[in-house]
Amino acid sequence: MTERVVLAYSGGLDTSVAIGWLKDATGKDVVALAIDVGQAGEDMERVRRRALDCGAVESVVIDAQEEYASDYLMPALKANALYQKRYPLVSALSRPLISKYLVQTARELGADTIAHGCTGKGNDQVRFEAACAALGPELKAIAPVRDLALTRDKAIEYAEANKLPIEQTKKSPYSVDQNVWGRAIESGYLEDPMNAPRDGIYSYTEDPDPSKTPTEVMIGFEQGVPVSIDGVRKTPIEMVREMNALAGAQGVGRIDMVEDRLVGIKSREIYEAPAAIALIEAHEHLEDMTLERDVLRMKRQLEAEWSNLVYDGLWFGGLKQSIDAFVDHTQQYVTGEVRLQLHNGRATVTGRRSAQSLYDFELATYETGDQFDQSHAKGFIELWSMPSKIAARRAQGQK
Ligand code: ARG
Repeated sequence: MTERVVLAYSGGLDTSVAIGWLKDATGKDVVALAIDVGQAGEDMERVRRRALDCGAVESVVIDAQEEYASDYLMPALKANALYQKRYPLVSALSRPLISKYLVQTARELGADTIAHGCTGKGNDQVRFEAACAALGPELKAIAPVRDLALTRDKAIEYAEANKLPIEQTKKSPYSVDQNVWGRAIESGYLEDPMNAPRDGIYSYTEDPDPSKTPTEVMIGFEQGVPVSIDGVRKTPIEMVREMNALAGAQGVGRIDMVEDRLVGIKSREIYEAPAAIALIEAHEHLEDMTLERDVLRMKRQLEAEWSNLVYDGLWFGGLKQSIDAFVDHTQQYVTGEVRLQLHNGRATVTGRRSAQSLYDFELATYETGDQFDQSHAKGFIELWSMPSKIAARRAQGQK
């Protein structure tokens, strides 16, 4: 039997051309694999058929939206995952899931190699190959754009010469990657970090509008996972979709940043991630009320580490899994409700309550009912500041 390669297929120009290009360069038959992670573009059946029309020997589509929300987005939310404090890891979260299916499909359909459409300058090549290495160490990897000189111009030429069924729709001036957790927009005019994003670049969010009536929502959480909006139960994927609609309509979740890629480049990135930004805000506030001070402090440090690991393609790595175990243990008390106001580009928490709350009115109040014995504070401060006093005496040479 001819050797086979499984290609992560999007249905776009590059990966469509990559089917024939891979066959020509390697002699291997190409199996196309398209994963639905809520990118909400084309009909997936059309995508599947296009791969066959472009010469794939088999074409597989997997609807992984629910799995993506439950097993990838919810862990990210529990970890309040924001790379460099801003980016909710939109593309970084989808790669390990796609890789899982690349490995599974390679084994089922007898391929010895996986392939993807990434260039050699980005993070996604690393994420695909690092995840596949962790799950299918016997498999090889090949990237036609990076390894087989499949440039954009050659792709267009090849598609025309071979009459590939690709509607050359108006070529987007940007490189876009999107899924249900958000949208990443880069390159072109945005490569000048001083250029403001142009009108029409966003599609998950409306322009923030101060004259619009604010939207108020009550988000219910159980053990760190959002389970209801205004008392109505939601599955994780429903939660994310509905928050995208509600928060997106108020312009919440637009991000404009210069980010450090794993390959050493600084890159200007635009994102829109309305549900991610609104849900992380709500979740963090509920944790502020339900986690002990030192647990919270350590968790915030480990969240940054978790985000770095996932950004860097180590989803299946040991450290990331160990941090997950810590995070999950902390979430046992993160149950309650958070009121969010969505307005003019911001998601603002305006209230929270929890049966697991550590907030104690009788300790916090300045009014009658105060149970906090202020006379203990004086002695506490005496001991607390003793090391400072001793060090200060030494610094002043009075030791
Ligand atoms: N910079 C982001 C990341 O590394 C977004 C990547 C978007 N990918 C793309 N092919 N346009 O996660």
